[in-house]
Amino acid sequence: MSRKKIVAGNWKMNKSFQEADTLVEMILNQVNDFDEIIKIIIPPFPYLQTINTQLTKKDNFFLGAQNCHTHSNGAFTGEISANMLSSVGCKYVLIGHSERRQYFKENNTDFILKIKEVLKNNLSPILCIGETIHERKADNHFKVITEQLVNVLTAFSADEIHRFIIAYEPVWAIGTGETATTEQAQEMHAFIRGVVSGIFDATTADNISILYGGSCNAQNAQELFKCPDVDGGLIGGASLKADDFCKIIFSF
Ligand code: PGA
Repeated sequence: MSRKKIVAGNWKMNKSFQEADTLVEMILNQVNDFDEIIKIIIPPFPYLQTINTQLTKKDNFFLGAQNCHTHSNGAFTGEISANMLSSVGCKYVLIGHSERRQYFKENNTDFILKIKEVLKNNLSPILCIGETIHERKADNHFKVITEQLVNVLTAFSADEIHRFIIAYEPVWAIGTGETATTEQAQEMHAFIRGVVSGIFDATTADNISILYGGSCNAQNAQELFKCPDVDGGLIGGASLKADDFCKIIFSF
């Protein structure tokens, strides 16, 4: 098994440039070079290049983007391509975040096209999946997660899947302060690994990192990261405070 341990901070649409600069400096000052956890900082687009210059000073810190367009270039006013993200130092791109699904009506066709662009530009997709509270209450969560995975992953080869990270983010836990229990997280992460194994093979499933996201914080990260199939976290709110984010990094 060669799964990487990963902590990614999704800043969403938060922080001024000056605040972003200070936050990254404070995080970098607390983390040692020998720390082998993969740390991914995912700031708003305008700060990417500057933050990358800061991140490259430390080992195992990488830059991620919150979104990309389905095309490489052209007349798409206001959009940003994977090609551009790669040219400013990004290594990862979030795809399918529940906020993109909900507010921007993105669907599986968009995700497949975006991931193709991501892979073409040597970046890695962090594919976000998760059920709503209604889907969980109706006991449909395994079905929903299976569909979200199968509809996207079957468009790619096992070789391509090796570059993926999956983030399980129950929509009811995002930004709500309500976290999945360790039992719920482990159960779903093991299930996701089973679906990946069914589409590809056991080795591919064993090697893919599956992150938990949804009100993961400095207090609950350690319990969640102890679960055998939880390989780290995709952190929203708690990634905006240097001390909390670093505590999460130190939670393995
Ligand atoms: P949260 O967000 O940690 O604030 O719940 C997680 C996410 O949306 O990735």
